[in-house]
Amino acid sequence: MSKQKRILTGDRPTGKLHLGHFVGSLENRIKLQDEYDTFIIIADAQALTTNFEQPEKLKRDVRQVTLDYLAAGIDPEKATIFVQSLVPQIAELTIFYSMLVTVNQLEKNPTIKSEAEQYDYQEMTYGFLGYPVSQAADITFCRAHLVPVGEDQLPHIEQTRRIVRKFNNLYGEVFPVPEAKISDVPRLVGLDGKSKMSKSLNNAIYLADDEEAVRQKINKAVTDPQRIRKDDPGNPEVCTVYDYHKVFNPEEEAEIAEQCRQGTIGCVECKGILAERINSFLEPMRERRSYYQERPELIKEILISGVERARQEGEETLNRVREVMKIDYDADQDFLAR
Ligand code: TRP
Repeated sequence: MSKQKRILTGDRPTGKLHLGHFVGSLENRIKLQDEYDTFIIIADAQALTTNFEQPEKLKRDVRQVTLDYLAAGIDPEKATIFVQSLVPQIAELTIFYSMLVTVNQLEKNPTIKSEAEQYDYQEMTYGFLGYPVSQAADITFCRAHLVPVGEDQLPHIEQTRRIVRKFNNLYGEVFPVPEAKISDVPRLVGLDGKSKMSKSLNNAIYLADDEEAVRQKINKAVTDPQRIRKDDPGNPEVCTVYDYHKVFNPEEEAEIAEQCRQGTIGCVECKGILAERINSFLEPMRERRSYYQERPELIKEILISGVERARQEGEETLNRVREVMKIDYDADQDFLAR
């Protein structure tokens, strides 16, 4: 299959990936890696926007995310996995892009606003406010066409498109205008049933969880609060466990909803079935995880060659950028003699 179009997507390394990440974007990436030339960024510099006081955590988290990717089914033969801070062309591009964005645009970005609220930032650092600019560089340093992401990232892709259009108009057509690709699966709710699955809310099932952890977590998951006794008729529409059945047990979902409404299946049994489904869903990931865990040298090689390829693409892009911006001093050393 010819691989013309490019994908760039990725994550901040801030800890283990969970089922919400899988459903929201990993799954899409795994499907698309066959069709597209896929680049996956481990955005360690972006993680510093909120974790700059604990930079020592990054190495562990970079390793963790890499393992999660490989376990989830990102194929290093098809996808280029790399670390953001090891690709200096991204930082260089960020500087040029920063002239093409106004502070006002950044301050209006709804994702920036809600994150600032979440972290209780009274004032934002320049790096935090500006990370969408660096994300535009992440996306375009390899001239990507498509960006599979969760919905919260849409404002950043929009910002990237604005920057790219402005760049292309001002200096010359270097970049394709990238498009977002959002997952069709609705955001996965957390085990508490209140908000989306998230590490900081402690309501997540991790891709790295073992069978017993999955069972215990599902056992504690919130169900229909009106349902007290096993044979009370339940309402699956308000049940977190049922939400998960829809995603991880589509074959039995309808039957389970029916039995719940009639009070012929109890929550304990229903949860047991779900835990089994999720465990068999995670099983191939556990196998791949231990395969890679036993081969740290292989993980190292995957990242080294990913970084190498990213730098090459970045340098190709930056050569064009410097040329159209007329700052190609290296390529045009005679400029001094003119
Ligand atoms: N901002 C993304 C997140 O928080 C991570 C990210 C960094 C990213 N650079 C990217 C996503 C480029 C897509 C494309 O999840």
